[in-house]
Amino acid sequence: MDAFDPLRKLKEFISYPSVSADSAFAAGMKDAREFLEKTFAELGLVVETVPTPLHPILLARREGPAEWPHVVIYGHYDVQPPDPLNLWESPAFEPTERDGRLYGRGAADNKGPLMVHLSAVAQLLRDNPDLPLRITFLVEGEEEIGSPSFVPFLETHKDKLDAEFVLLSDTGSPRPDQIVITTGLRGIVCVEAELTGPRTDLHSGVHGGAVENPLRALVRLCASLHDADGRVNIPGFYDAVTEVQPWEREQVSRLGQREEEYAEFLGVDTFGTTPGFTPFEAVRFQPTLEFNGLGGGYQGEGSKTVIPSKAMVKISCRLVAGQDPQDIQEKLLQTLRERCPAGVKLECRTAHCGAPYRVVPPHRPDTPANLNPYLAKAYDEADRAITEAFGNAPLYLREGGSVPIIADLKTLVGLDSLMIGLFLPEDNLHAPNESFHLGVMEKGITVSRRILQHIAEQGAKESMK
Ligand code: BES
Ligand code: ZN
Repeated sequence: MDAFDPLRKLKEFISYPSVSADSAFAAGMKDAREFLEKTFAELGLVVETVPTPLHPILLARREGPAEWPHVVIYGHYDVQPPDPLNLWESPAFEPTERDGRLYGRGAADNKGPLMVHLSAVAQLLRDNPDLPLRITFLVEGEEEIGSPSFVPFLETHKDKLDAEFVLLSDTGSPRPDQIVITTGLRGIVCVEAELTGPRTDLHSGVHGGAVENPLRALVRLCASLHDADGRVNIPGFYDAVTEVQPWEREQVSRLGQREEEYAEFLGVDTFGTTPGFTPFEAVRFQPTLEFNGLGGGYQGEGSKTVIPSKAMVKISCRLVAGQDPQDIQEKLLQTLRERCPAGVKLECRTAHCGAPYRVVPPHRPDTPANLNPYLAKAYDEADRAITEAFGNAPLYLREGGSVPIIADLKTLVGLDSLMIGLFLPEDNLHAPNESFHLGVMEKGITVSRRILQHIAEQGAKESMK
């Protein structure tokens, strides 16, 4: 077997176009999966490919005696669609190195970060084939489409995930020398609403004034969903939100980012943050309701005097710790129904839902007494290893994005997660010219190795029993 070369492996992985959202990429999904199956097998892991209605989930296990600690490493092999293709400087699925970065769709989300942990395991097992650690890679292919198969999978396979904790990198950090240990993810609720007025588009002169216009009804309905301060105006929306701890605000304050710079990066003159929160806090601690798309009527060139028959809006809410997606979804649907103006009919479709997640690291005032002792050790070693490899101690921050399966693993299997943020703002996730910083990759491998090595040593000492 050739020596394991992380960069070469990552290039091969990126070259397989594994877009989960589009069935035209079925071959790329299969190729990416086969690449992983082969790579895991080369490391001596036992690979199981679990079929799902859509894209199979991979489990790759390093088995061992029950007294060895067990770590689950999570990642996803699916990527976002690459379009708009004309904006890529090098083709999306032809991985290309430029200025210390590797460009290609999925380089940062999530193939590079997954390869960091895979490489760490390869190096550890090469150096110590007897490493007393059980490892299970859990790699899904539906993360970018809301992980519809994951909960049903957990119900039948959770006995294989009887572990101490989950290790993953699918979150971000602000700079290549300032790594974040992610302590929370927002949840998500998606709803699509359609308003129907007259049975067909109408002449706005012949019938205008006689009927409610579905677009007018829609904008009134949408406008009712926030108050003048930008707070979400749905009864009970904030009721279950857990209070932000002082240590969490203190960590955000150490980000060292200036609001003016953030505004400039976003291309806005002023922020739309709710009172009491800086923009850096708002994305981490506040739930939102966003309009993701809104339409109806004539969108073409020139004018058209029409009353459209239909209007539609796509809404998503990001949720924070304490909030329950089912509860918020019901409250949103109820509010839409109650406030829908007379003269139009409302139909709602629900899309994916995911719960928020929050974990409190060791040595905090609110650290839970039952935090897994191996996870506590892993946090401490991650802190030391990041400080040494990257030159600065990590920040402990919640994140605005969502990886809904992390909450499912907590609720259904009892597993907490150690999340090390490895992508950077410049990595262009979900956008053209996605890339992964190769310096972060190399240091990330060192950090991951140290964490896994440390957990194996803790188990060998049996001090944790
Ligand atoms: N890796 C991201 C989540 C993420 C993005 C975390 C940025 C932290 C910072 C993940 O692949 C993703 O895009 N998730 C979706 C989830 C959705 C499809 C249910 C998201 O957050 O929109
Ligand atoms: Zn993503």
